[in-house]
Amino acid sequence: MTCYHSRAHELTGSNMGVHFLVILVSIVAVYFYTKSPSPVVQRSTHLKSKYDYIIVGAGSAGSVLASRLTEDPDINVLLIEAGGTPEDIEEIVTPALVTKTLHTEYDWEYYTVKQKYALKGSNEQKSYWPRGRVLGGTSILNYMVYIRGSRHDYDSWAAEGCDGWSYKEIIPYFLKSEDVRVSDLYKSEYHSWGGPLTVSTTLTSPLINTFIQGGQELGFDHIDCNGKTQEGVCFMQSSILNGERCSAYQCFLKPVMKRSNLHVSTNSLATKILLDGKKAVGVEFIRNGRKLGINVNQEVIISGGSVDSPKLLMLSGIGPRNHLESLGIPVIANLPVGQNLQDHLKLMMTHCINQSISVTTEKTNSLYSRLLYKLLGTGYLASPGAVEGNAFFHVDGSKKGKAPPDIQFHFSAASPNAKYMTNFLSNEVAEEYYQCPEEGFVNYIILLHGKSRGSITLQSTDPFIPPLIDPNYLEHPGDTKTFIKGIRIHQRLMNTGPFQRVGTTKQKPLSMCSEYIYDSDKYWECFIRHMAITIYHPSSTCKMGRPQDPDTVVDPQLRVKSIYGLRVVDTSIMPNVISGNTNAPTIMIAEKAADMILKKKPLAKLDL
Ligand SMILES: Cc1cc2nc3c(=O)[nH]c(=O)nc-3n(C[C@H](O)[C@H](O)[C@H](O)COP(=O)(O)OP(=O)(O)OC[C@H]3O[C@@H](n4cnc5c(N)ncnc54)[C@H](O)[C@@H]3O)c2cc1C
Ligand SMILES: *[C@@H]1O[C@H](CO)[C@@H](O)[C@H](O)[C@H]1NC(C)=O
Repeated sequence: MTCYHSRAHELTGSNMGVHFLVILVSIVAVYFYTKSPSPVVQRSTHLKSKYDYIIVGAGSAGSVLASRLTEDPDINVLLIEAGGTPEDIEEIVTPALVTKTLHTEYDWEYYTVKQKYALKGSNEQKSYWPRGRVLGGTSILNYMVYIRGSRHDYDSWAAEGCDGWSYKEIIPYFLKSEDVRVSDLYKSEYHSWGGPLTVSTTLTSPLINTFIQGGQELGFDHIDCNGKTQEGVCFMQSSILNGERCSAYQCFLKPVMKRSNLHVSTNSLATKILLDGKKAVGVEFIRNGRKLGINVNQEVIISGGSVDSPKLLMLSGIGPRNHLESLGIPVIANLPVGQNLQDHLKLMMTHCINQSISVTTEKTNSLYSRLLYKLLGTGYLASPGAVEGNAFFHVDGSKKGKAPPDIQFHFSAASPNAKYMTNFLSNEVAEEYYQCPEEGFVNYIILLHGKSRGSITLQSTDPFIPPLIDPNYLEHPGDTKTFIKGIRIHQRLMNTGPFQRVGTTKQKPLSMCSEYIYDSDKYWECFIRHMAITIYHPSSTCKMGRPQDPDTVVDPQLRVKSIYGLRVVDTSIMPNVISGNTNAPTIMIAEKAADMILKKKPLAKLDL
């Protein structure tokens, strides 16, 4: 792993010779540098009255599905997307600018309802929930982290009746999408190349090595977190291609938009699934203020994500009977749509250091950094907030290798500023707690398998009104207990030699919890109920499983139970949220669904 070391030092900007060389080379190169024009993208305005398949939602899942289904020129597909086409702007393309698309036209800007047990440090105890509303969906806004989850996640799906979804059966679909660009992983049987989804690593600060070495001092193995086992410390893998975001739009959809058998209708809000008795026959949607209805020969596929897929199903009469009846919606199928909502919460533990090795705004915006990015597609701007270290573990060490991990760390060599944190916390709390003006870092402690369950319900039959989102964070008392165990491991990590050598400071107590003895479990419980915030992985609201199971919405073929010609394909079908970030698993779900829809033989099991 020495290659990582040398690269990290080179990029800290301490070497004047390198500076000079880069500037010189750039002056010459600017003459030759022309940005290749982006290919013309075709957006369909004239639609047919009938398609073989209609996909609702062009997000992580919908983009992949549209691309795979139209590989056969004899199959025609209509893709309906509420948002527009992402512009080729640096806020989307440049990894370091990841937060700039929040609160823009590309964001649904959802908010949860007031929480009872959590978010005490947030305005009105509500959480902002960004979601992408654009071709590419949430993969346009996300942090590009590439994680597949634990083999135990998928094996337990299969054990609970999701036939075909064991690790051995799903891993070929991860490999089908993948185009790995990490030299250490070329030979690994857990990786593959040639697919549309780039997997690469960035390394902008030697602090990432501090994290890896600190973890090793605690006894964690230094591993590939998408390899044989998930438990250990690793360098982050990201969906970044030559320093640019590899969104589902950029890497799956855009390259195939010129296919004549794919029509894409943007700025089109699907308002209802058209049903003939128990059969889906089309989709009703509103475009430019006009209501349109388009029919299907084969199937309607809903890929609106974990918030909007349940909303559209319920608007169409598919959902919990009592809830639909209370809104006067005729019930077509009584199913637990919108229930079983799961998300991941994170604690952002910031610490200051006494050396100039972290990634600051100043360094990121420097001329050096901008030149490096323009010319070579590397450096600070090529990294999503220096979130470059990662770890997974089970707080009960004896479960290692037998169950999914229950805590994940994300390590970033950049400390968040108070202004950014006011997206999620009240001004008061953000300003008190996130004040590491210069050099510092943040370690995210992420609770992977909280036991609390929330719901998505309708507050209106008006399709323009957002649904009620109640994640019910931290209701289950076990959730804070597991979190506290994660905090204890974080504290041990901060005390390791590598972290001590960079002058890692202690955290200051949170004044809102001053009634508890600092560092007691009670103090940390108070801290968690104030400071734990979403890491944006809502899932499981259209749960997949055995058709006979009253808690499931779709069967293992992702068909909505008791309805013909209707599937759900997105994050919402996960029976339980996986151990990690949800983008790559959602892409895998869509890859697998495409084969199911086309009645192809599933890819051969891989005994890994
Ligand atoms: C800020 C942020 C950071 C994240 N970081 C990461 C990360 O680093 N790594 C990771 O793995 N995951 C990350 N995630 C999560 C990940 O991106 C999502 O889980 C994933 O993109 C969800 O895919 P999806 O297909 O289920 O839904 P989406 O990608 O949300 O797609 C749904 C699409 O359907 C459209 N739609 C919805 N309703 C309708 C309707 N009625 N009519 C027409 N169109 C409709 C939406 O506009 C959207 O385009 C992050 C999420 C956020 C918000
Ligand atoms: C930073 O702190 C560490 C630990 O206290 C100390 O050993 C080191 O000399 C300090 N470095 C600087 C540059 O102050």
